[in-house]
Parts: sequence; structure tokens; C-alpha cells
Amino acid sequence: MSELPLPRHVAIIMDGNGRWAKQHKIQVALGHRKGVETLRAIIRESSDLGIESLTLYAFSTENWRRSPEEVAALMGLLLEYFTSEIDELDEKNVRIRILGDKDGMPEKQRAALYNAEERTKNNTGLNLNIAINYGSRAELARAARALAAKAVKGEIKPEDIDEAALSNELYTKGQPDVDLLIRTSGEMRLSNFLLYQCAYAEFEFPPVLWPDFDLAAYHEALDAFRHRDRRFGGRNS
Ligand code: FPP
Repeated sequence: MSELPLPRHVAIIMDGNGRWAKQHKIQVALGHRKGVETLRAIIRESSDLGIESLTLYAFSTENWRRSPEEVAALMGLLLEYFTSEIDELDEKNVRIRILGDKDGMPEKQRAALYNAEERTKNNTGLNLNIAINYGSRAELARAARALAAKAVKGEIKPEDIDEAALSNELYTKGQPDVDLLIRTSGEMRLSNFLLYQCAYAEFEFPPVLWPDFDLAAYHEALDAFRHRDRRFGGRNS
């Protein structure tokens, strides 16, 4: 079997920061901080490899249920990240998009997220999608609402609502479907992440915790993808 090219769209559930902190007997906030280092390296590598889209799950709508201390630590890291990295990302021609409800974020974070999108909107390199305050079912409900509103205004007819029209209302509009979904830490769940976009995704579940997910582990996942037999419901032989 011939090798596939690199995936066009890689999505990652960055799982295991809490367990990593526990293993090292340090606060969970420090596990997340270490996780940001991994994230930085994976973004840089994806951009250098010429991957078209990289989507990272940073904060789900369910993550608000964590302790106020942990939520505050994650909010602090987000703000720090978007403030300190934006110049380098812009220089690397990375286009940032936030998947999720930015308006439900605290004021400073919201401003930083809008700024990152605005500042990089004309960039043509890696599409870096960061899912923050994101849930896939909420994304689908939002798309359905947008289509219904257009139909009520007479802009479209119900029969115009097809897969392309639906996809066009998702946060990932215009980007390819996910080819490879990676979830670290050995957990094998989708956790309300990109349910529609992962219809034909290949899955990799490396056992390492996110802070330990290094470039060698990333390449292992990419190589595994290249040896998959993708049929999209058809037959290859
Ligand atoms: C999962 O680990 C990870 C998260 C809930 C947050 C991921 C966030 C970051 C890597 C940093 C912030 C992001 C940006 C863009 C700066 P977990 O805490 O659920 O791990 P556990 O299952 O071992 O407890």
C-alpha cells in the first residue's frame, strides 16, 4: 500500500495536564503551563511541515465546571499566550481563528481573542484554530439557527439546506474536514469536539500525557496516519 500524504487538517485534544502535574507532585496550573510549551512546539512544527489546518481544544464549555482556581489559571495562560505569541505567529504567516463563543469569555481574554483573529486575518500560512469556550453540539445548533434565520428572511429555501450550506455556518468554514484526530493520555473519547468535521477522520490515541507529547510522538502519529487505508465508505481494491 502506498503512503498517504500528510494530513491536511490535524485536530488535537490536549489531554493529561492534570495527571502530569499529579505525577510531578506540582499544582495543576503548572501542568497546564507545561502544556502550553508543548502546544507552542506542535504549532511551530505544523507550520514548518506545511500542514493546512491545525485545531487545538484549549477550553470546552464544560471546563467552566472546574475549580475557580483552575479556571483562573487557564484564563491567565490564555491571556499570556495570546499576548506573548501573537508577533511570532503573525510573522510565521499563521492565521488564527477562535472556534467557540468568544463573547462568553472574560473581557480581557475576549479582547485578546478578537485581536488575534483581526491581526492575522490576511495571513495565508497555517490555519490555527483554537477551540475556546467551544462545544460541538452548540456549534451545530448555532449553524441551524443561522440557516433558519436566513430561511425566515427568504434568503434561502429549506431545500437549499444541504451539507455544504451547513458546513458553511460552522466555525471551520472554508477549511478541509479533519483528516487526523489525536487525543493524548490514552483516553478514547471525542468529548463534544468537531463532531461534524470528524465524519471521516482517522484517530490516534498516543498514551503519553500532553506535556510529554514531543515532536517524535507527533511524527509517530503523522506516520501512522500515512499508513492508514482510507476508503470514505468506498473500496480501494
Ligand atoms: C486537558 O488536561 C487540558 C485542558 C483542559 C486544557 C488545555 C489547555 C492548555 C494546554 C493551555 C491553555 C491553552 C492555550 C491556547 C494557551 P486535563 O487537565 O483535563 O488533564 P487530566 O485529564 O489529566 O486532568
